[in-house]
Parts: sequence; C-alpha cells; structure tokens
Amino acid sequence: MSLVRGTELFAAARKGHYAIGAFNTNNLEWTRAILGASQELNLPVLIQTSMGAAKYMGGYELCQQLVEATIKSMNITVPVVMHLDHGNFEAAKAAIAAGYNSVMFDGHDLPFDENLEKTKEIVALAHSKGISVEAEVGSIGGTEDGVTGEGELASVDEAKQLAATGIDYLAAGIGNIHGQYPANWKGLNFDRLKEIADAVEQPLVLHGGSGIPQDQVEKAISMGVAKLNINTECQLAFAKATRQYIEAGKDKVGKGFDPRKLLLPGTNAIKDTVKEIDGWMGTRPVKMVPEEL
Ligand code: 13P
Repeated sequence: MSLVRGTELFAAARKGHYAIGAFNTNNLEWTRAILGASQELNLPVLIQTSMGAAKYMGGYELCQQLVEATIKSMNITVPVVMHLDHGNFEAAKAAIAAGYNSVMFDGHDLPFDENLEKTKEIVALAHSKGISVEAEVGSIGGTEDGVTGEGELASVDEAKQLAATGIDYLAAGIGNIHGQYPANWKGLNFDRLKEIADAVEQPLVLHGGSGIPQDQVEKAISMGVAKLNINTECQLAFAKATRQYIEAGKDKVGKGFDPRKLLLPGTNAIKDTVKEIDGWMGTRPVKMVPEEL
C-alpha cells in the first residue's frame, strides 16, 4: 500500500475519533522526513504541497512524481495521500491532471455562490478519476504562501451547502490561524465546531494546526476533526536546527561547505516534529484502517 486517496482514511478517522497528520512539503528533504517518520511509526499520512511550494519545486507533475518515487525508493508501505493544499480553481484542475490523490479547492475568497459552483465542478472532475476533494468555508486567519484569510467563523448553513456538493472533507474556520498564534488569541470556537460537526457528516479539517495547545487539538479531534494541517511547526524546526548547525561552525568543518550535511540537521528536526505531533493526535496504526483500503 502506498498512494491512496483520502476519502476512506479520513472517514475512518472521524468515526474512530482520531486524526491523521497532513504535512506540507517543500523539497526532497522534507518529503523524505515526512515519509520516513510515518513509516517508522507505521501511521498513514497526508503529504501536501501549497501552490507556492509546487511552483518552487517545478510544478504539480514533478511534485507528484517526487512523492511517488520517494515512496518507492524508501520502501514506504503505509498509506500516503498526495494532496494539494489551498488550491485555486486552476491549481485544483492542474493537480488532478498531474495525478494527485486529493485536492483542496479553496474558494473562500469568492462570493459564496461561486465557491459552491466551482466546488461542484471540482468534485465532479476529481470524483470521475477517484480523487478526493476538500473545500473551505469561512476563512483560516493569517497568511500562508501569499494566501491571506481574515479568520471569519464558518457559517453553518454554508458548511451544509458545501457538504451537499459531495466533498470528501471540509475545512471550516473556527478561529484557527496559519502561522504563529498571537499572544491574545482567543482559542478555537468549540460552539461553532459542534454546530458544524452536527450539521455535516464529512470529516473536518483543522488548518493552522501549529501552535494550538494540545488539549484544544484533542478536543477538536473528539468532536469531528480528522485531518490536522501542520506546516509552521516543521518550518520552525528546520530553521532552528539549521541555524544551530551554522552557528556552531559545523558547515566549515572538514572539506568545507557540504549541502548534504547542512540540510541533514533540519531534515532530522522535521522528522522528529512529525513523530511528536503524530504522537499526540491519536493517529491509529495501519492495522486500524479498514480492510477495503
Ligand atoms: P500552520 O501554519 O499552523 O502549520 O498551518 C498549516 C496549514 O494549515 C496548511 O494549510
């Protein structure tokens, strides 16, 4: 088992009250770290590229092939979902054409009717190829890769309408923010999360997973969140480990500057971060995943 779509994995997670980590990748090193950590823990994982990361890495096809080839070369056997994070309409179609297993169409910045219509189109196209779809209602605060959300709470009625398009999982704004949380952050809005979880059957997605206190994440998972998005935590771990390596003068030892040695501490730090977060999400080992997968 390696690349799979996300529909059954996340549905099983919502039903079983656990979540599966969705980690952003930016290059080969991050990809190896995320896959290696998941394999060591024997846990399913979702690996995702933002539009910006895909552009940086050379396009959706390259990203898809990189993940697929890395799975093969590392003998990864746990289920891996290859996903587009916060894609606009064109990006979602491009990722579908490139063979991603799952795409997020993020139409939160469109008038709601247009978000709904375009989500329907993406669902029809993706489902005709066996690909899963995530949609967004309300917006996730903060900025990620140039995509900025004001952080509105999702409307329950809009959540229901988006769910009725047949999407496989739903990202709903409940006070969560991309990037680092400000000191005066009010926390997740559990009243709204409960209203949305009661109104839609689909697994819910918690964006902005970095920096949310563990007890709030656990409570959100117990209420229907099945996909936890993490990017900033890995970025911070990578930057910190790389800085420590350089500040200790290790990049100058021996034969001098060696990019492979320079990238190793940060890569290991991402691996440790993925393992740590997986440890407190209650993610179930592969044996808990339904047989039909
Ligand atoms: P963080 O910035 O909190 O890691 O969130 C990442 C995310 O939600 C990606 O879509």
